[in-house]
Amino acid sequence: MLKADNVKLSIGRKQILKGVDVQARAGKFTAIVGPNGCGKTTLLRAITGDLPYSGRIGLNGRDLSDVSLADQALMRGVLAQSTPLSFPFTVIEVVRMGLMAGTAAADAVLRQNLPLQTLRQVDLMGYENRFYQELSGGEQQRVQLARVLCQMWDATRDDQPCWLFLDEPVSSLDIAHQNEVMQIARDFAARGGGVIAVMHDLNLTAAFADHVVMMRDGQVVASGDVQQVYTSENLSSAYGCRIDLSVPVSATAPVIHPGVVVNA
Ligand SMILES: Nc1ncnc2c1ncn2[C@@H]1O[C@H](COP(=O)(O)OP(=O)(O)OP(=O)(O)O)[C@@H](O)[C@H]1O
Ligand SMILES: [Mg+2]
Repeated sequence: MLKADNVKLSIGRKQILKGVDVQARAGKFTAIVGPNGCGKTTLLRAITGDLPYSGRIGLNGRDLSDVSLADQALMRGVLAQSTPLSFPFTVIEVVRMGLMAGTAAADAVLRQNLPLQTLRQVDLMGYENRFYQELSGGEQQRVQLARVLCQMWDATRDDQPCWLFLDEPVSSLDIAHQNEVMQIARDFAARGGGVIAVMHDLNLTAAFADHVVMMRDGQVVASGDVQQVYTSENLSSAYGCRIDLSVPVSATAPVIHPGVVVNA
């Protein structure tokens, strides 16, 4: 389990997280949603040990402040919101960085094949010797996911869940690759791992997430399953505009659309 209690975080004089409580279970896909600037990335960066915070964050029952970054790299893989690289690495070199960060697969043969296997998973076979910097934004995002999957190939390790922390993993992807990546994340959870993903696409989130945490202005304003969190009231208040929901007969999740304001 990932458990954040009363997490507060300031950068300079600005308080960005104002006492955040979040729980995410292994075996589940947890989505963090909320408007631009509400603190989603900052929360993820606290959870990944990148930013100092007050309060408590526990991962698999251990207080994060007691776990070295090297040990954290064995427990979780992190996909940042964007990952510009300054040096001309090839795609396969970037993906192999995941092998260095964690222990990846226990099996040595699998481990050797993993970079190509994860590239195939994200639909980038044949890209291994291309330069990362010369790829499109969506292709770069999928290379980074392949790197993270290399690091966290096993969804559990020593009977403990492994975690994927993904900051907007599908923001640059077309609809087919969005579905593919969401499915990869959901499969990871189905194998016993934990997934926390920051998301902007509320409909995609409704289709894949088990648990939704909604933030606004550095605080959690709603959390629970999709049906609990996705109310017109919650959404409209969090995003500051009218948001309507409808449930088509054939759909299992509500469909969200911005309210249409008709001038009289
Ligand atoms: N290094 C920094 N210095 C100053 N302010 C920062 C810094 N990093 C983030 N902030 C501020 O903290 C707030 C939260 O930023 P954060 O990146 O967590 O937002 P977010 O919810 O991830 O937004 P988005 O959906 O746009 O990615 C914003 O107001 C941002 O301007
Ligand atoms: Mg962000």
